[in-house]
Formats: sequence, C-alpha cells, structure tokens
Amino acid sequence: MRIDKLLANSGYGSRKEVKKLLKQGVVKANGTILKSGAAHVDPETMEIMIQGERLVYKKYVYLMMNKPQGVISATEDNVHRTVIDLLESEDAVRSPFPVGRLDKDTVGLLLLTNDGKFAHTLTSPKKEVPKTYEALLSKGITAEDIEVFSKGIMLDDGYVTKPARLRKKEEDAAEILLTITEGKFHQVKRMFEARGNKVLFLKRVQVGNVRIDDDLKRGEYRDLTEEEIEMLWEEAGRE
Ligand code: URA
Repeated sequence: MRIDKLLANSGYGSRKEVKKLLKQGVVKANGTILKSGAAHVDPETMEIMIQGERLVYKKYVYLMMNKPQGVISATEDNVHRTVIDLLESEDAVRSPFPVGRLDKDTVGLLLLTNDGKFAHTLTSPKKEVPKTYEALLSKGITAEDIEVFSKGIMLDDGYVTKPARLRKKEEDAAEILLTITEGKFHQVKRMFEARGNKVLFLKRVQVGNVRIDDDLKRGEYRDLTEEEIEMLWEEAGRE
C-alpha cells in the first residue's frame, strides 16, 4: 500500500501532515528513506521506521462513507455498482465490507470495515445500537405518529418495532429525524407506510455516537478516527 496512506491510517496525522514528515526524510522502509507519498510498501513484511520508531501496523481498516444513491451496500452485485466499487484500490485490497445495509436509494452514513467482530457487534440485534435517519415524507407527522413510534408499531409482516424516537427536523413536519435501535429490512420506510405515510428521501446521519462527517460529499469516504472507533466499541459494549 502507499506509504502516505499507511502513515495516515497509523495515526501519523492527516495526509498533509504525513507529506511533511516524508519531506523531512524521517520515514524509512527497510533502511531506505522514502520521500514520496506514492511509494509502495508492504507493512506486513517491511520494517517501517518513523523518526527512529518502528511503525506498528494495524490490520484492520475502519471507514465512514457518505453513501450516494444508486449503489448497493454489498461487496458484490451482478448488475449494480456496489459501495466497494467506490473505494480506492489501496483500501479495496484490504477487503472491507459494509457494516449493515442501506437501501440502494438511501444515502448517508455507512461504516465499512474488515474487522468481523466489530461489524458483528455493531449489527447484533442484542446490542440495540441507535441509528438516526433524516427523512423527507409525503406528509407531515402528527403527535400521534410520535406516540405510536415511541411505543412500537406493527409492520406489514406483523412484527412490532422496538420503541423509536421520532421528531420534526425543524418546523417542517414533513422533514423528520427518526432514531431506531434495530435494522429490519426497509424498516424506516415500512414504519411510515404503516402510518399511511411515505418516505420520499432517506439519509442516515448517525450510528451510535458517530455522526456523518458533513465534509464528505456523496460517494466520498474517510478513515474513522481512533476516537470514533473507540466510541463505537463502547456503544456496542466491549466483550
Ligand atoms: N430503513 C429503510 O427503510 N431503508 C434503509 O436504507 C435504512 C433503514
């Protein structure tokens, strides 16, 4: 992988800061000074030193993506583009996969990792990790909708949802925020359908305590920070 990516992933600062380190000539791979961020290294077999300190290679990758519409949150699809197709090759080679699913037309916060335990923990129904969605509805919500959602609503297949927190996004009652702690198939859309309403646009904005980075344009992604990873582990309860 590229040395600049490896250093950024390993906590040596932003790409800009990493570039500075490289320019200073303090980064060595098997004894050779590397000055270009584009230089390729294999952190599993090479000795990478930064200012005389050996780099501890982190095996796992944790990404946050602002998922665009029209791509599938899966690793493969015969017809459509997947979120993996949006990754740069140096990230794709580490085989991350989406943590849970968003519908093809849903946008917003999608986590990707190659850490199976992390993904499993965050998506386990037992952990009840809250997920918050912004939605535009075909009509405004009522106080009764809020009440019914807070108690649990029966979906088309007879399943009764766990308590959910519904509120208006500002004054406009058709723009709402909904926090749910589970992830049944098309859950948000089906919850509103059960109230005779329709989701016209859906965006996930938060998972646990981690909010989408508003600097990410649709289709863009970045590494989660150490703090965000820690918050998510805490949220799901470390074993
Ligand atoms: N609920 C939905 O209906 N769709 C999503 O993508 C996520 C939650």
